[in-house]
Amino acid sequence: MQATNEIACGIDFGTSNTTVAIAQGNNEQIVLVPVEEDHVTIPSTIFFPAESSAAVFGRKAINAHVAREEGRFMRSFKRVLGTSLMKDGTHISGRKTKFENIIGHFIEDIKHKAELLAGKEINNVVAGRPVHFVDGNEQADKEAEAQLGAIFSAAGFKHIRFQYEPIAAAFAHELTIGDKERLAVVMDIGGGTSDFTIMRLSERYIKKHDRQQDILSNAGIRVGGNDFDRALSLKCFMPLLGLGSQWGSKGLGFPITPFFDLSELSKIQYMYTQKYKRDLKGLIGQSNDKRLTHRLLSIVEEEQGHMLMASVEESKIQLSLCQHTSADLSFIEADLQAQIERTDFEQSLQGNILSIQKTIKDCIMMAGIKSDDVALVILTGGGTAIPLIQQITRGIFPYAEISDTNRMSSVGFGLACDARRYYFGGD
Ligand SMILES: Nc1ncnc2c1ncn2[C@@H]1O[C@H](COP(=O)(O)OP(=O)(O)OP(=O)(O)O)[C@@H](O)[C@H]1O
Ligand SMILES: [Mg+2]
Repeated sequence: MQATNEIACGIDFGTSNTTVAIAQGNNEQIVLVPVEEDHVTIPSTIFFPAESSAAVFGRKAINAHVAREEGRFMRSFKRVLGTSLMKDGTHISGRKTKFENIIGHFIEDIKHKAELLAGKEINNVVAGRPVHFVDGNEQADKEAEAQLGAIFSAAGFKHIRFQYEPIAAAFAHELTIGDKERLAVVMDIGGGTSDFTIMRLSERYIKKHDRQQDILSNAGIRVGGNDFDRALSLKCFMPLLGLGSQWGSKGLGFPITPFFDLSELSKIQYMYTQKYKRDLKGLIGQSNDKRLTHRLLSIVEEEQGHMLMASVEESKIQLSLCQHTSADLSFIEADLQAQIERTDFEQSLQGNILSIQKTIKDCIMMAGIKSDDVALVILTGGGTAIPLIQQITRGIFPYAEISDTNRMSSVGFGLACDARRYYFGGD
């Protein structure tokens, strides 16, 4: 593929964070684009203010939401691709809006920032994609890729190619690993998915045009940081709002649905309708522990669900560094705190960890290798900072070197490496 204007970019549109890198011609360096002030990553978030039509993105969107400005805050919209919500759309400022347009706004902003840095229009892109957008449904998976392709096209890209996100991370690391061929596994644990690739890498292969022979296997599962947040929320936060408390004259457990809804980013918005609030009030009328369940009601009435999930996520991140953390929940009630041990979080992760371990083992089996053959493990994506994930990695690959440089930007960088090779040729 010969590109027209000698510039291409790689875009890692992530569930939680997005990066973009540009490649100008065959021999130029790859450059990560500052997408929000000096940052080379931008949270994949949008805030649509109630008053004006101009949306804001990233940290600005989060700040507007935390400051309780009037409007609609959205995050994790990548997860909607390939699901029925794409057809349904959502209401923003009273108007039905398609998710294509919401994601489109975000991608246009990213493209614009890359073009500002480059000083020219960019028509060529390699876009990252997870190994599976949707688990166990090939048709939905194809639709998700087609939907994202159409969004990139509507944003103005003329040439669009997709690459698996973990393969891109492998390309980024390949620039620094020396001439000797090494068998590597990439583990990319992001906000929405966990993706794995087993691949032969060497600096000698960087310009090789066709890498198909070097890729032994890919595997992926729709489990990621959002699921870890949900697990932590249900274990350590929701009991403070009445999960597990008694309800009704027979002393049954309080119905669990509101706690699950409040722990799932994509559901929070739907709790803010008048009907939901009314129904919840009705349920709480029969609660036997109103001290706790009034906190639940107050979060829903005050529309503080995303704020609570931000606190859950922050606690999870703290627990990668410390054995214990306390979350300040005074926005719900004066002096309220959640005290959390790392072991609580690890217990909540059991099911997710088993799914991740199984997917890694499937990837090894599909590659037709033994785990001991792997010389290098490349960790990328925010979830790989979790000590338990690092521990299971060490358990599966006891002899491999483990590399985790640039875990938040290696996919975007590697997509631009792929774009350079694809659009401007190699050996
Ligand atoms: N130090 C940390 N410890 C634990 N989790 C972390 C840490 N830092 C970031 N995360 C989590 O990593 C996730 C974001 O990672 P990343 O930016 O790699 O995802 P993404 O690329 O946007 O998602 P995906 O690739 O699944 O579409 C979030 O769930 C975030 O909470
Ligand atoms: Mg990612």
